[in-house]
Amino acid sequence: MKQSVKMIVGNWKMNGRGEDLSEVLALASALAVQPSEHRVAICPPATLIERLARAAVGGAVEIGGQDCHEAPGGAFTGSISASMLADAGARLVILGHSERRAAFGESDGLVAAKVEAALAAGLEPIICVGETLEQREAGDAVAVVSAQVKGSAPDALKGQAFAVAYEPVWAIGTGLTPTTGQIEEVHRAVRAALIERLGVNDGGAAPILYGGSVKPGNAAEILSADEVGGALVGGASLKAEDFLGIIRAG
Ligand code: 13P
Repeated sequence: MKQSVKMIVGNWKMNGRGEDLSEVLALASALAVQPSEHRVAICPPATLIERLARAAVGGAVEIGGQDCHEAPGGAFTGSISASMLADAGARLVILGHSERRAAFGESDGLVAAKVEAALAAGLEPIICVGETLEQREAGDAVAVVSAQVKGSAPDALKGQAFAVAYEPVWAIGTGLTPTTGQIEEVHRAVRAALIERLGVNDGGAAPILYGGSVKPGNAAEILSADEVGGALVGGASLKAEDFLGIIRAG
């Protein structure tokens, strides 16, 4: 299935201070002059969400968080709840990014609990999945990703807006990308897993984003692949010019 309106989401990871807000303002003004047919979002560090929302970029550029705690509140020093993100001005939240799965031991079950928390706070989750190089070389990419999708997608997603992002771990920040055929194979498997898990109405429509070394130079090819409903962009989302190049390529 080809989706013509794509979701292009920037994940700033642990990058960005007040001085970097100018990049989002530049992005928003470029989109005001020449609007994009695509949905565009930036997920800055939590410290910048409210400042971005106050800068009123919430029209052309939506704002998202990069993670949330699974509990609505309480004694969880250092953590941020989904409703806090929403209160600060976020509409979306990235959950289960491979960096969190690897560095913070997040399991599919924990990611599913975070998805429930996000939905309860009115946020649209972007659920990340992806295989390691070792898993791909062992021929397990499709099986690993399908299992992650089924384990990370709770029943609560039925009737709600959400997206899945396929981000092969070996393609993140490396400049390496899968072939179009490899992307399409995994995206089709993600679609099948979503339909198996949530049914054809709810599993059949959610956009499946690709992430991992998306740049202005490869965005057109990636975004035109079958079942690619958008991109989740790390490094190339930090500068307005690069991110715009990706948005315009879609
Ligand atoms: P890069 O675009 O820097 O490879 O990062 C991808 C990513 O992890 C987005 O969530």
